[in-house]
Amino acid sequence: MAFKIGLLGLGTVGTGTAQILQQPAGRHPMVQEIVIHKVGVRSLDKPRSISLPPEVLTTDLAGIVTDPAIDIVVEVLGGLEPARSLILQAIAHSKHVVTANKAVISRYGDEIFTAANQAGVYVLLEGAVGGGIPVIQPLKQSLGVNQIRSITGIVNGTTNYILTKMQTTGGSFTDILSEAQQLGYAEADPTADVDGLDAADKIAILASLAFGGRIKLQDIHCEGIRQVSAADIAYAEKLGFVIKLLGVAKRDSEVTVDTPEEEILQVRVHPTLVPQVHPLANISDVYNAILVEGEPIGQVMFFGPGAGSGPTASAVVSDLVNIAAVLKTGGGQEGMHPLLSCTHQHYCAIAPISELVTRFYTRFLTQDHPGVIGSLGTCFGKYNVSLESIVQTGFQGDLAEIVVVTHDVREGNFRQALEQIRTLDAVNSIPSILRVL
Ligand code: HSE
Repeated sequence: MAFKIGLLGLGTVGTGTAQILQQPAGRHPMVQEIVIHKVGVRSLDKPRSISLPPEVLTTDLAGIVTDPAIDIVVEVLGGLEPARSLILQAIAHSKHVVTANKAVISRYGDEIFTAANQAGVYVLLEGAVGGGIPVIQPLKQSLGVNQIRSITGIVNGTTNYILTKMQTTGGSFTDILSEAQQLGYAEADPTADVDGLDAADKIAILASLAFGGRIKLQDIHCEGIRQVSAADIAYAEKLGFVIKLLGVAKRDSEVTVDTPEEEILQVRVHPTLVPQVHPLANISDVYNAILVEGEPIGQVMFFGPGAGSGPTASAVVSDLVNIAAVLKTGGGQEGMHPLLSCTHQHYCAIAPISELVTRFYTRFLTQDHPGVIGSLGTCFGKYNVSLESIVQTGFQGDLAEIVVVTHDVREGNFRQALEQIRTLDAVNSIPSILRVL
């Protein structure tokens, strides 16, 4: 039996996908049943590292998603449009879809999965989070019987590379970013990566699967790494931490609720001080890792290459094989396979960041005279913020540098205390505020 695919895009991931399909030997036998029928590209003349029969290539992308001969459309164009419209058109033409497009799924998942369920087709997205790391199917299948408590992930390779290099070289964010751009590890426009937006897309998708509800991207509190300084990385190290950009999705309470609709979640992305002994602390360079905690499984960590041609193509082809296997055994005609289709419709409630209870690391620049540390302590105490440590670490020019680490505190209280501290004459500035895992 052969399953015909239409590949939208022949960039990095599209090329990797075609390469796996062209070389099925040594892989699962189903791989050889998947046949590239058409490949949609922007230009037919562009030199390519892969050779495909000329009649396969076309610039008519709309023709692929409406082609009656095609069973599965693979969308690896990236970006929002025309990817979203082509996915919806493919679904409307009863085609299954495999995509690696986290931006489209995190924004338009509602529309896409509603349409897919109505049309009786599957939309699979293993490549959208963590590149080649299998995490989507494990959450849906192998871990699906667990009550998931939290997902904590390093899900953006670019920022992990930058933070790792800042840590090992002592360089500034700006210098390391421009080095990363020269090496091709960071985009010319690095916004989506360094401002945490890519990580927010990914944690939205993971949260949705783990907690069985849809997530509104705008409810996710998102901070990137631009404000992380070499000084903070050095102080964090002295205190026993490394700084990582984490995506976190958690149940807001320890109490297990009866229905997913009652669940209140925390979903957030921000640079975080991670204890050096924590399993995520040693994930370096462009690697990704996702730590899942659930009942009764305990902790499981997924680690590997979070991007790249071969790894992401591995995820894409595994989705193709999953769909082909279900179609081969009649799953497409007998109703939707409950482990592959999207089974939730409601939106999860997400708590405002002011309700978060966490530890904070904060660095202050102040006048160096008696009573300054005392007045900081008084302000924190007034708002019920308990301090774990407060240390004058040195000087910047003639200003004293004071680093504070709190106990677990309510973020709203902590921010109120900081507002009052900002008004103190002795306080010059608060260059860093970071959460501690
Ligand atoms: N830009 C992403 C990253 C890779 O740096 O991890 C694609 O998701």
